[in-house]
Amino acid sequence: MPTRPTRELSPLGRVGSLLARVPFNTTTRLEIDGVHYLKKQRRAYAPMLVLLANWYAARLGLMMRMLPGPAWFGYEQLLYDVLHGRHAPASGKRALLLPRLPGRNLLDLLQRDPCLSGEGRMGLQLAAIELARLHACRTPHPLGGGRRQFSHADATIRNVLVDVERRQAVWIDFETAHTHALPAQVRHADDLLTLLSTAAAIIQPAELPALCQTVLSNYGSSVVTGAMKDLVQSWDARPLARRLAFPDLEDGRWQALCEDTARLGLH
Ligand SMILES: Nc1ncnc2c1ncn2[C@@H]1O[C@H](COP(=O)(O)OP(=O)(O)O)[C@@H](O)[C@H]1O
Ligand SMILES: [Mg+2]
Repeated sequence: MPTRPTRELSPLGRVGSLLARVPFNTTTRLEIDGVHYLKKQRRAYAPMLVLLANWYAARLGLMMRMLPGPAWFGYEQLLYDVLHGRHAPASGKRALLLPRLPGRNLLDLLQRDPCLSGEGRMGLQLAAIELARLHACRTPHPLGGGRRQFSHADATIRNVLVDVERRQAVWIDFETAHTHALPAQVRHADDLLTLLSTAAAIIQPAELPALCQTVLSNYGSSVVTGAMKDLVQSWDARPLARRLAFPDLEDGRWQALCEDTARLGLH
């Protein structure tokens, strides 16, 4: 019987794999007085998982941190209000009722259109435009320290909903923050790279140049794109950490992404 090659995981890799598999929250759909909500609640063991996730992020040199329960609760509520103009009422002390927003997440769109021939490409355009809009908003840092330009800190294709009919995208899931001291352009570059790299793991490899072009041109900031290029180079110089930080992106796709961002000649 042929044996399948197995990839040995380092202890740090095992922690990453655990964090990717164990859910932090429960989510339940419900309707109250004709309004559709998603009830989101941290699981009882989530505080331990948050500590582990933040230890892991620090070890890898990631810029994001998971928010502890009370900070998440107030921050997600506040951002639904400030960024989306929607009220997200509390349900008891540990759950939020998030108003259901229209659209499908970008992961779903890209899985259906990996060649970027229609809805996938439109989803990327709208997500990048909306990310640029949010990055221009000033919001309080969830752990205190005053207002600053917003950054998401987990800007994956799962965390943006796209309404193709209305041509609108909304970013969701505000459970993370970038560390406070980082300059806005570095935090924004990290969001842009998260969007690009999570999309790059899903689409047809031949479409990687189109992915970079679509996202970066619609985001529309050469300063942030330049900072993202620097970030790509710094991860490329640390291949072991990079594989853990971008676990779904195989080496060939990462190399193609490096070449495509460099080739665009954006400084
Ligand atoms: N307000 C919302 N309206 C509609 N769908 C949502 C909303 N919030 C989350 N979702 C869906 O639920 C999924 C998980 O929600 P999310 O807030 O990202 O939690 P987590 O990733 O922490 O489990 C999202 O990828 C999205 O598909
Ligand atoms: Mg999410």
